[in-house]
Amino acid sequence: MDNRPIGIFDSGVGGLTVVKAVMERLGNESIVYFGDTARVPYGSKSKETVTKFSAQIIRFLQKQDVKAIIIACNTINANCIEELRAKFPHLPIEGVVEPGVRMALKATCNNRIGIIGTEATINSGKYPYLLKQQNPEIEVFGKACPLFVPLVEEGWAGHAITREVVQEYLLPLAEHEIDTLILGCTHYPMLTETIGEVLGDKITLINPATEAAFSIKRLLKSKNMQSDAQVASYKFYVSDHTSRMQKMAQVFLDYPVEHVEKIDIEAY
Ligand code: DGL
Repeated sequence: MDNRPIGIFDSGVGGLTVVKAVMERLGNESIVYFGDTARVPYGSKSKETVTKFSAQIIRFLQKQDVKAIIIACNTINANCIEELRAKFPHLPIEGVVEPGVRMALKATCNNRIGIIGTEATINSGKYPYLLKQQNPEIEVFGKACPLFVPLVEEGWAGHAITREVVQEYLLPLAEHEIDTLILGCTHYPMLTETIGEVLGDKITLINPATEAAFSIKRLLKSKNMQSDAQVASYKFYVSDHTSRMQKMAQVFLDYPVEHVEKIDIEAY
């Protein structure tokens, strides 16, 4: 048994979708969350910059004595998770891309899968690469949706303008007759309702966070590192203003987040 927390991090507030999935499925596990709100977005940055920022965050989380890490951000996963695993070989690091790929392969019936994410995630080609590695018959249709992140950050997930943007990005993708769509960005599960309304129920929406939570559960079990704590604790850190994170966390997690701490991530 190991009652130390799991570290979860993202470029901003979007990683709360992964926090929520872990809270719901691993009730005994404590969490330390870091959102790099001062340096978001990562989706338009270079691989070198994203790797450097991520390594700083992992060093910070190590100082918080985490036993394992989930990288919630698809952009980091798609561009540099291997480098980060090599840099921190003694720390179990789970991602969201591999779990998302497993879910999509299970869900598709016609082998036509859509993937949406930031420009950096789509340009990396990581999702199509992993999908085709598992099944060469799969056809993948990718689309970067850069406006989704600011709309979610603005709290406009259910807004009429967001619905129009969703239509603009996703209706052409649906014309490829995909039956499965991977929400390949931390923020996009917050748009599930609107995306579902626009695309209808013939397209299965994949939230990689769900399977990522099960993956970390299996990983902890295999290493005998699960927590047996009766009450889990949740701590939230950011690199800039704390109020937005606090508000988003309270609403989205339905949890009374009383304190969010700002830290100087450049110091790590
Ligand atoms: N967290 C990022 C991702 O999942 C989206 C926001 C950003 O561009 O930093 O790709």
